[in-house]
Amino acid sequence: MNEGTQVSGTFRKLWPHEQDLFRDHLMRLDRTNRLMRFAHGVSDSFIEDYARQMTDAGSTVFAYIEDGQVRAVAELKKLGDTWGREAEAAFSVETAYQDHGLGTELMGRVIRAARNRGVHLLYMSCLASNARMQAIARKHDATLRFEPGEVIGEIVPREPSYFSLLAEAVEDRVGFMMAVLDLQRRIVKAA
Ligand SMILES: CC(C)(COP(=O)(O)OP(=O)(O)OC[C@H]1O[C@@H](n2cnc3c(N)ncnc32)[C@H](O)[C@@H]1OP(=O)(O)O)[C@@H](O)C(=O)NCCC(=O)NCCS
Repeated sequence: MNEGTQVSGTFRKLWPHEQDLFRDHLMRLDRTNRLMRFAHGVSDSFIEDYARQMTDAGSTVFAYIEDGQVRAVAELKKLGDTWGREAEAAFSVETAYQDHGLGTELMGRVIRAARNRGVHLLYMSCLASNARMQAIARKHDATLRFEPGEVIGEIVPREPSYFSLLAEAVEDRVGFMMAVLDLQRRIVKAA
């Protein structure tokens, strides 16, 4: 438990021009967290490529941002060319920020986004040793399927409702304003 870390940032979607924030977050993951996130060890150049394709396949990326840095991320990915009945989710939280509820909070947003896109089955896979991920999945009523070395979590999102669509739309408007402010701050810093 990282008791020294205070979490006082905000959650919002990342925009395509923010690939570098996504990349920097993934780069800060240590060896163990990279292994947990990708199910195998990955190099810096793999992360560079991966981050460059952040929204290429139409993924939606939710981030927890503090002082202009992305400290945690949840990715909702389509399985196929368009949003269909099934989708996949993946999570990463930097070590100092783990065990502060960020993964749980991001999972809630991912499930709501999946619901709003008509997804009927949301998958997430993790290593069998990943107790934190399994704890979060259980909290969101996932069915956990144990396979050799890995665990597949399956969540069935509810049908979209007026309120789930409105909540996402309202957050997107606020998120857009925050993205503009973050961009302004970065431009001022760089000048
Ligand atoms: C898995 C991960 C996303 C969880 O994020 P997080 O912000 O630390 O998670 P939260 O704080 O929301 O919740 C963690 C839960 O795990 C529980 N937990 C922590 N260590 C645990 C352990 N050893 N055994 C069982 N449960 C444990 C915590 O008590 C907490 O549950 P609670 O809220 O009911 O008390 C994060 O640790 C991470 O990014 N890990 C590296 C990458 C990864 O594993 N990605 C998942 C595969 S895609």
